[in-house]
Amino acid sequence: MPYILQYKTLYICIYVNGRLTHKREREMGFSEKQETLVKESWEVMKEDIPAYSLYLYTMILEIAPEVKGLFSFLKDTNELPKNNPKLKSHAVKVFKMVCEAAIQLREKGEVVISGSTLKYLGSVHLQKQIVDPQFEVVKEALIRTVEKAMGEKCSEEMKDAWRVAYDHLAAAIKAEMKQQAAALSV
Ligand code: HEM
Repeated sequence: MPYILQYKTLYICIYVNGRLTHKREREMGFSEKQETLVKESWEVMKEDIPAYSLYLYTMILEIAPEVKGLFSFLKDTNELPKNNPKLKSHAVKVFKMVCEAAIQLREKGEVVISGSTLKYLGSVHLQKQIVDPQFEVVKEALIRTVEKAMGEKCSEEMKDAWRVAYDHLAAAIKAEMKQQAAALSV
């Protein structure tokens, strides 16, 4: 009888814990499945950084050719430079930071960027005067890159997970840009 009670208690604990986890995930808006989908596709993209970086920029310029002049490594050229370290660096930062944002969203329910990194991200994009519609352009280009990397394995759920994580990261950068702009104008 005590054994039966122990098992019963254990099952109830597992059930309640499961329900609570799901409740927390629903409230946070980012589930373990979404985190896995983002990580899974980042693992694939990691295998060919030069190709996917180039693809991200091909998509950015296809969607909004006018942003070309913003990038130091694009403004004086008519072709996308292959294996350009600055191009790769920006693309990888976008891929990797969105992936980290996904992990944080699942773990903590929010995206927290360390103080100095956030300040740097804010100042770089403020200096370049990046505006909201341009954040949307990079998001769309990122989604197309995920589609390219994952092929048939890419699902709406996977793309949505990237969109949600990107939006949170972009919101943190935009908030910092706003704060720095306000500090400059006083
Ligand atoms: C959440 C998304 C983004 C992240 C994580 C990010 C990250 C960064 C970082 C870390 C840098 C510093 C240079 C480097 O290390 O590569 C940078 C530079 C830059 N970013 Fe972003 N960025 C994002 C979105 C955007 C968007 C939406 C635009 C607009 C088109 C943009 C345009 C630029 C430009 C023009 C530079 C300077 C690049 C250069 O000329 O060398 N970024 N970004």
